[in-house]
Amino acid sequence: MKIIIINGPNLNLLGVREKEIYGEKSFDDFFVEMQFKYRDVELSYFQSNIEGEIINKIQETGYKFDGIILNAAAYTHTSVGIGDAVKAVTTPVVEVHISNTFAREEFRHISYIAPNAKGVIVGFGLLSYELAIQSFLKGN
Ligand code: DQA
Repeated sequence: MKIIIINGPNLNLLGVREKEIYGEKSFDDFFVEMQFKYRDVELSYFQSNIEGEIINKIQETGYKFDGIILNAAAYTHTSVGIGDAVKAVTTPVVEVHISNTFAREEFRHISYIAPNAKGVIVGFGLLSYELAIQSFLKGN
C-alpha cells in the first residue's frame, strides 16, 4: 500500500512553532516513527509552503497512490485550487489537522478540502496522521 502525507505551509516548523498548539516534536522525527511502526506501508512525505507545489504533488500522486493524507494547513481555509485538485484525483484523500480547528478562530472553521475528502480527522495532535494511516489500512 502506497500512502503519501502532504503537509502545507509552516508545518516544516513543527517542534519550533507555537508549541502549545502544535507540540514539541518535529515532523521528521514523527515520520521516522511512523515508517518504523507501519513497515508494511510504503509511506512517503512531502512538505511545501507553496500552494502550486502542493497542487502538483496531489496531481502527481493522486492517480497512483492508494491514499493521500493531506494537512494543507492555512491553505485549507483559502485554497479553491487545492480543493479542486482533491476533487480531480481518484486517490482518496483524508484531511487531517493537528489542532482542533473548530475550537479556534472562525476562519479556521472553513475547509475547501473537506467536501471532497474521504474523511476529516481534526484535533488529535500528530495522532491525527496515524489515525488517517489506520483508516486506509482498515479499508474504510
Ligand atoms: C493546521 C490548522 C490550520 O488552521 C493552521 O493554519 C495550520 C495547521 C493544523 O494542523 O492544526 O497551519 O492545519
